[in-house]
Amino acid sequence: MELGLRGRKAVVTGGSLGIGRAIARELAAEGVAVAIIARDPARLEAAAAEITRETNTPCIAIPADLTDAAALEAAIGAAQSALGHIDILINNAGATPMGRIGDMDDATWMKSINLKLMGYMRCARILTPPMRARKWGRVINIIGRSGHQPRPNYITGSAVNASLLSFTLALAAECAPDNVLVTGVNPGPIATPRWDTVVAQGAAGMGRSAEAENAAAIATVGLGRVGTAEECSGLVAFLCSDRAGFITGTNIDVDGGGTRCI
Ligand SMILES: NC(=O)c1ccc[n+]([C@@H]2O[C@H](COP(=O)([O-])OP(=O)(O)OC[C@H]3O[C@@H](n4cnc5c(N)ncnc54)[C@H](OP(=O)(O)O)[C@@H]3O)[C@@H](O)[C@H]2O)c1
Repeated sequence: MELGLRGRKAVVTGGSLGIGRAIARELAAEGVAVAIIARDPARLEAAAAEITRETNTPCIAIPADLTDAAALEAAIGAAQSALGHIDILINNAGATPMGRIGDMDDATWMKSINLKLMGYMRCARILTPPMRARKWGRVINIIGRSGHQPRPNYITGSAVNASLLSFTLALAAECAPDNVLVTGVNPGPIATPRWDTVVAQGAAGMGRSAEAENAAAIATVGLGRVGTAEECSGLVAFLCSDRAGFITGTNIDVDGGGTRCI
């Protein structure tokens, strides 16, 4: 399917690893110039160089800690300066730890809220006005199925993700008159470095082995396996294209049939 994305410009937060990296690569393979943002500069530079080499499309690295509002603003400004303007925002950087209410102190809550809810909101608040002025834009929020299937041992992530499901729909309604489409994507268990961390934290919390924790998670998935980052990135590239030009204001699960709600 020709997605018609060639020449577009995108920002992918958390683009050095896992789902974000797969999205950055997928978009670059479609001819989209991409700026990726994450903290570890060496890993980020290596990812950008590899994506550029593999796709023949420029991918640039902009190191920043997105929990820091000033650093976020500077990073988005650097992406706009380097690429000219931004058509597509992929909000993806998130790192909320597993834990029950008694495990999570205020600092952990605030860090998670600051990175994922406030980080996604701040990037969208900067980038949607110029998208709206150009009458074309895409914001894809990578959220998580815990937003509508809350789990007691992932209480902070569940609450942050639920707020993002709502944020996505409100922002979509705000931006629709200007052809800026906003969609949420909810991955189920996806094989990434974060998944390994989540399994280790969940196993420690449940007092069982990582293998048992992984098996318990897989048992919740209809397809009986974890997914791949590329199974998320294909959907995201489609949602960025004009082939998905009538899709906005909705949240889509990519979870192997693990979520059953109407
Ligand atoms: N994998 C899953 O099973 C799963 C399921 C549901 C939802 N999700 C969501 O999908 C998104 C991506 O997850 P993933 O599994 O691909 O994660 P990952 O493998 O841990 O990658 C996370 C990316 O975000 C960056 N990052 C983390 N903290 C950051 C910060 N403070 N500032 C800037 N960048 C930061 C990381 O780079 P640095 O560490 O160098 O900053 C990395 O590039 C997250 O929002 C996650 O909650 C994932």
